[in-house]
Amino acid sequence: MGKLSLQHCYSINDLRLLSRCKIPRAVFDYIDGGAEDEITLKNNRNAFDRFRLNPRALVDVSSVDLSTTLLGQPIAMPLILAPTAMTRLFHHEGEKPVARAASKAGIIYTLSSMATTSIESIAQHVEGPRWFQIYVWRDRRLLQDFIRRCRESDYKALCLTVDLPVHGNRERDLKNGLTIPPRIGPRLLLDLIRHPQWTWHFLRSDPFTLANVCESLETDQDRFILKEYIDAQFDPSVTWEDAAWMIEQWQGPFVIKGISNVEDARRAADIGASAIVVSNHGGRQLDHAPGTLDVLEPICIAVSDRLEIIIDGGFRRGTDVIKALALGARACMIGRPYLYGLCAGGEAGVDRVLQIFREELIRDMKLVGCRDLSQIDRNTIIN
Ligand code: FNR
Ligand code: LAC
Repeated sequence: MGKLSLQHCYSINDLRLLSRCKIPRAVFDYIDGGAEDEITLKNNRNAFDRFRLNPRALVDVSSVDLSTTLLGQPIAMPLILAPTAMTRLFHHEGEKPVARAASKAGIIYTLSSMATTSIESIAQHVEGPRWFQIYVWRDRRLLQDFIRRCRESDYKALCLTVDLPVHGNRERDLKNGLTIPPRIGPRLLLDLIRHPQWTWHFLRSDPFTLANVCESLETDQDRFILKEYIDAQFDPSVTWEDAAWMIEQWQGPFVIKGISNVEDARRAADIGASAIVVSNHGGRQLDHAPGTLDVLEPICIAVSDRLEIIIDGGFRRGTDVIKALALGARACMIGRPYLYGLCAGGEAGVDRVLQIFREELIRDMKLVGCRDLSQIDRNTIIN
């Protein structure tokens, strides 16, 4: 991949390979890896192979419209940038270039509560619709503070992630000894030397903090270990009653992310969620869970008349997005793809990711014979 550069990246996988050359192995593995034997990670991708597309011929597709709305918000294509923690670990500019790329592409950016850029800073520096993703800390005062701050900074929706009551068993991170700042051993030292640009920026940048919670970052050790922080700080006792309380407090569009069956989708609708994300955290949490595309259709049949349905997990192609819409999803979230782009080339890399998705979606819509998203239906897909 030595000669690969952004303009020679023609797919998300090309950008994944380029990002691998740009950042230390431990950082790449934190993005790329999944829990334990990575069966759920593989299930997410393998699910797409169980569905085929069914093209219609002789349809006038001289122009194709990818636009839609999500929770009343107009978006230029059915994609949302998923919340991802600690973006400054991947690129020294952190979340701002990602949010800018989303704004330029006319899609929604979701800021993680484990982000390295604050709620206010994103709102002050970047235009465009944004959501805020919430984890529930044991210190429940943070939750009320998040709600107040997001309202003051005009976040369009809150997104409660419910598939992380405990940190997943990410064995790549354990083997790599992922800490922040990195604990420099011989193997890591060699890796840092082989990635001088990343190392230079990481050493020169301001100290690394979780920008939305830094005042309550109670770590006594000199190094931040994500798994230890999450298991110490996150509240595993959160219930549907707590989620209902948050919806009541927020009084705005509320998304529940990490739903993987009909029963929980119904409960989300019962408490008044505006949308759900059918998600298994990109295979980073429970191993041996089904691929999200495999559980999408029964969930859509059960609740699509009561809330909007988003899906994530393994989306790498325009055809993946069309398959999800044909099964009833309204939009798809992407996580790793934009991180690969960010690592590969900063904001220009994220721009390239969104350009690839847009170009593929337009071409694929023309090839299946659909002029706009409303023409994608269950007949567009065969399984
Ligand atoms: C994540 N994800 C995640 N989800 C969330 O709700 N809050 C978070 O802070 C994070 N952090 C995070 C970091 C990294 C490095 C990755 C790769 C993912 C999960 C993310 O939002 C999304 O559910 C998956 O990434 C979707 O799968 P793909 O698109 O990465 O295959
Ligand atoms: C992760 C957590 C932070 O996936 O959501 O790394």
